[in-house]
Amino acid sequence: SRTAAVIPAAGRGVRLGPGAPKALRALNGTPMLIHAVRALAASRAVSLVVVVAPPEGAAEVKSLLDADVLPERTDFLVVPGGQSRQESVKLGLVALPPGYDIVLVHDAARPLVPVDTVDAVIEAVRAGAPAVVPALPLADTVKEVEPAETPGAPEPVVATPARARLRAVQTPQGFDREVLLRAHETVTDNVTDDASMVEQLGEQVVVVPGHEEAFKVTRPLDLVLAEAVLARRRL
Ligand code: C5P
Repeated sequence: SRTAAVIPAAGRGVRLGPGAPKALRALNGTPMLIHAVRALAASRAVSLVVVVAPPEGAAEVKSLLDADVLPERTDFLVVPGGQSRQESVKLGLVALPPGYDIVLVHDAARPLVPVDTVDAVIEAVRAGAPAVVPALPLADTVKEVEPAETPGAPEPVVATPARARLRAVQTPQGFDREVLLRAHETVTDNVTDDASMVEQLGEQVVVVPGHEEAFKVTRPLDLVLAEAVLARRRL
């Protein structure tokens, strides 16, 4: 079985503050996206990486990847992204050549995912799960609220789900290619991850252990944490 990775990297990164598209911002001098591509290409099972780039940055992404040293077994493609993460992933999927039966979807915004996490996801798909997500238990208790109409106004709590049953999910999420394609062709609701689209098809989604270092770089403090993790790795 052959595995391809689709990396949505077309987001603006508004929560990170003003500047270049998030995936092109540097961590220790290297664009976040390049870290993410290297992290996926580190898995011996991954033979193709499809980067879904900001439409205005596709040429820049292509030349960054041309200049980077990826393992010889790894090919890459760059395609322009869309208005939402969901649309960007679909554009990546549609661009996948035949011959890949397992597809990983990985956020460019999770540049430091360890290769062991990538391999564990692929292994679980190979073992027969149509959809696999890495996930961690929560440190915080989570409350469901009735969102306030005025930002900042107090919001009534609706429910408190039992924390022990909750998981925070990460990427790469791994899929049987046909199942993921069917999910993207069928589900039109706005969703925040790919696995939830597969859940809506009624297919089983399973969770494997995630990793702290697979956190998503979203806010300015996450950049500080990411650079600290990179510095520690170089020791
Ligand atoms: O916005 P969020 O943090 O959920 O984005 C997750 C990933 O999806 C990021 O890597 C981002 O670049 C990507 N994305 C995309 N196209 C969009 C919006 C987000 O590829 N239109």
